[in-house]
Amino acid sequence: MKIVVAADHGGYDLKEAIQKDLVHAGHQVVDVGCFSKDSVDYPDFVEKAVERIVTGECPMGILVCGTGIGMAIAANRHRSIRAANCTNVYTAKMSREHNNANVLCLGARVLETADTLEMVKVWLTTDFAGGRHTTRIAKFSD
Ligand code: RB5
Repeated sequence: MKIVVAADHGGYDLKEAIQKDLVHAGHQVVDVGCFSKDSVDYPDFVEKAVERIVTGECPMGILVCGTGIGMAIAANRHRSIRAANCTNVYTAKMSREHNNANVLCLGARVLETADTLEMVKVWLTTDFAGGRHTTRIAKFSD
């Protein structure tokens, strides 16, 4: 799958680790930055990632900042984006199954790297359950 990844300075190291793991698993990764630990504004990188998703280039995206919160708030301003700030494997799985999340947000300052790699794996391999969840999602998202 072609996946867009983005981070701010707080999420840079974790983004690099995730990206390496995704490539190793055979995914195609589009990295829209940031590209160092210099301080940046996370909304700028959300916009770069969202653009790749709404144009259809990448069906899914992974955004990393210190907490995952800013990335999720900014990404969810777009109607077709369903960004889930997940904290463990269970929430990552449910964000796909029930919420059809197309963006996974992660907090590098609150999560362990090994846990996030497992969360990403589960998130990417869990299908949307559809049914009643389709009706609910249609009330707020395209
Ligand atoms: C940056 O210091 C921090 O505010 C950012 O990474 C993120 O946690 C915002 O939600």
